[in-house]
Amino acid sequence: MGFIVALILCSIVSSFCSSANSLSLNYYSKTCSNVDSIISKVVKDATSKDNTVPAALLRLHFHDCFIRGCDGSVLLESNGGNKAEKDGAPNLSLHAFFVIENAKKAVEAACPGIVSCADILALAARDSVVLAGGPTWEVPKGRKDGRTSKATETAKLPSPAFNISQLQQSFSLRGLSTDDLVALSGGHTLGFSHCSSFEKRIHNFNSTHDVDPTMHPSFAASLKNICPVNNNVKNAGATMDPSSTTFDNTYYKLILQGKTLFSSDQALLTAPYTKNLVSKFASSKTAFYTAFANSMIKMSSINGGQEVRKDCRAVN
Ligand code: HEM
Ligand SMILES: *[C@@H]1O[C@H](CO)[C@@H](O)[C@H](O)[C@H]1NC(C)=O
Ligand SMILES: *[C@@H]1O[C@H](CO)[C@@H](O)[C@H](O)[C@H]1NC(C)=O
Ligand SMILES: *[C@@H]1O[C@H](CO)[C@@H](O)[C@H](O)[C@H]1NC(C)=O
Repeated sequence: MGFIVALILCSIVSSFCSSANSLSLNYYSKTCSNVDSIISKVVKDATSKDNTVPAALLRLHFHDCFIRGCDGSVLLESNGGNKAEKDGAPNLSLHAFFVIENAKKAVEAACPGIVSCADILALAARDSVVLAGGPTWEVPKGRKDGRTSKATETAKLPSPAFNISQLQQSFSLRGLSTDDLVALSGGHTLGFSHCSSFEKRIHNFNSTHDVDPTMHPSFAASLKNICPVNNNVKNAGATMDPSSTTFDNTYYKLILQGKTLFSSDQALLTAPYTKNLVSKFASSKTAFYTAFANSMIKMSSINGGQEVRKDCRAVN
């Protein structure tokens, strides 16, 4: 009977069939029942030594999911003639790979060969948000790791210079809605950006404006100070928001004030629908938290790989 139902579902919705890895909350309940707590402990230990770890892990998971689905492709190392995503162009500030390595070691010690690197990253991203004071959610598991990672494919990531229609298109290509776009952009409540990601907004913006007029003038002045023309301070940059290690809704308040770093952040005010959501999240942390958790589950379910890697840095 179950078989017949599956067969019918299969013929109606092809994503129910073998090509997709179906995720579930109890995926490892018989094979690695403590996986959530093993990973949480590793992420917690790393964060207690370096409070920028949560931002790094959240961004790693986002990059992973946006290229070939959430398949751990971002974790693979370049080898031989192949340059991996890790070494692709917008790789600035991808860090904390060691946390995933440590988590994989801990998980392998408890249940060897069972848990994918893609699942470890999805769980670590959730733990990161929780440790930074944000919402929690249950992470569906059962992702498989992919066998391909190409530096050139990082060009498919959204650019910080994108306008609203480009952002919507980038998200919809991954099955994510405009609501998901606004909620997930809230990940920019955490972390740091290098000058190169926003310097076009503060120097020679266009022929009539030196500074992007949608940016608050005093904020622009402070960024010019940190990132002067011909800036030669290695790793110069700014935090996403003054509370950059705390997951809160400050990011949306900053958008309304013209005090976010990227055009892609500010672009959320340029369409009525997204502007309304920004205002809603700016005035209700609860509304933001609920939306963020739902959209993270959606993003982290983008289907990807084929195997359970033994080493997160190399295919089997
Ligand atoms: C909407 C499209 C997005 C664009 C254009 C974008 C762009 C960027 C850029 C340019 C940086 C700074 C890189 C650097 O200069 O070091 C960054 C950092 C970051 N992004 Fe995004 N991002 C987007 C969506 C997301 C999403 C969906 C998440 C997670 C839910 C996220 C989480 C982060 C985090 C946490 C950082 C800080 C990383 C760190 O401090 O190590 N971003 N993003
Ligand atoms: C980032 O990419 C550049 C150029 O593709 C590469 O030379 C560099 O090593 C990469 N940096 C990191 C931290 O992976
Ligand atoms: C966004 O940029 C694209 C490419 O430059 C352009 O075709 C489009 O009209 C722009 N959309 C908006 C809303 O500005
Ligand atoms: C410069 O940018 C501003 C704000 O986007 C715009 O109003 C203005 O028309 C632009 N000027 C030119 C010459 O493109």
